[in-house]
Amino acid sequence: MFGPLAEPLRTQRLVLEPLTVHHADEMAEVLDDPRLHTHLGGEPLSLPELRARYARLAEGPAPFHQEGWLNWIVRRTRDGRPVGTVQATVTPAETWIAWVVGMPYQGFGFATEAAQALVDWLHAHNVRTIVAAVHPANAPSESVARKLGMRPTERTSGDETVWQLPFE
Ligand SMILES: CC(C)(COP(=O)(O)OP(=O)(O)OC[C@H]1O[C@@H](n2cnc3c(N)ncnc32)[C@H](O)[C@@H]1OP(=O)(O)O)[C@@H](O)C(=O)NCCC(=O)NCCS
Repeated sequence: MFGPLAEPLRTQRLVLEPLTVHHADEMAEVLDDPRLHTHLGGEPLSLPELRARYARLAEGPAPFHQEGWLNWIVRRTRDGRPVGTVQATVTPAETWIAWVVGMPYQGFGFATEAAQALVDWLHAHNVRTIVAAVHPANAPSESVARKLGMRPTERTSGDETVWQLPFE
């Protein structure tokens, strides 16, 4: 494990809970929509597949790997509903962040609010060089990155553009 350990985070409307395998049951429904995969590839996981994935994520990388896998479930405080996830993959060189919000909960600024809390927390833990890979056709995700203060770079990752937080 490399870097800080995930902690619970709070924002004005959301609580971010470090991911555990138990979150799979309530997240399966939120993530069960192929539209979420338009720019990500793949398809929604079945409940057993999601449980297995969350178990693997919560376990983290093998100790000799210089990497930290930080994953949070994003929950709306008002009614306790899970609305999405944010994640950070911390390496010695850079930290990759990503966000997903379930279809019924999109367009309310939840991804931006959760990702901003993530970035603030990473900065508070001296994690620098924060990057995100965003498909050029993924306008909502580009908008989230822009609202975080990220800028597109010349760098690509597969068919995605690498965005980076400047002036850290
Ligand atoms: C990207 C995603 C997380 C955004 O979630 P969200 O909670 O709706 O995001 P926010 O409400 O914080 O911001 C969405 C922004 O996209 C904009 N937007 C939404 N639909 C859009 C569209 N079709 N074209 C252009 N902009 C669009 C919104 O107007 C808003 O920007 P604004 O505040 O500048 O107006 C969500 O769409 C998602 O989960 N997509 C599928 C997974 C994914 O692609 N993740 C990103 C991987 S890099």
